[in-house]
Amino acid sequence: MSNERTLVLIKPDGVRRALIGEVISRIEAKGYSVVALRMLSADRAILERHYEEHKGKPFYEPLVEFMLSGPIVALIAEGNRVIEGFRSLAGATDPTVAAPGTIRGDLARDQGTKVVQNIVHGSDSPESAAREIEIFFGGK
Ligand code: RTP
Ligand code: MG
Repeated sequence: MSNERTLVLIKPDGVRRALIGEVISRIEAKGYSVVALRMLSADRAILERHYEEHKGKPFYEPLVEFMLSGPIVALIAEGNRVIEGFRSLAGATDPTVAAPGTIRGDLARDQGTKVVQNIVHGSDSPESAAREIEIFFGGK
């Protein structure tokens, strides 16, 4: 699909470390378009919707607390196969083993926290992308 879209979040660790520009640069340098962007302090309700698939997992509560710990940036990136492409740019969930060259591999590491802090979120399927874009950009 030529106009495929994905929801990217720059998590509180990325914002705190002043990596907003770095993350957006990598998305744009790859050739994707940023078609919507907002900075927000997420509340618990929005995070519970966003992370509903993880409810009940041991890292769920620490994950929600972490995501509440500071402002985040939500953006929509667009382009052919952008869902897969951004996951590739982001790298593996665990930043210790994420490949160098990826956002997580280059910019994050294990901080010994209850939940892994890994700079970015990216939707993992067209269904997730549609659902998550509605959560963060519904009505826009
Ligand atoms: P994301 O949703 O943020 O793009 O990351 P992902 O698909 O690579 O990872 P997912 O399994 O969806 O997990 C969502 C986020 O929860 C935190 N997490 N911590 N064992 C752990 O400590 C653990 N597992 C997951 C990470 O912040 C992960 O990105
Ligand atoms: Mg995920």
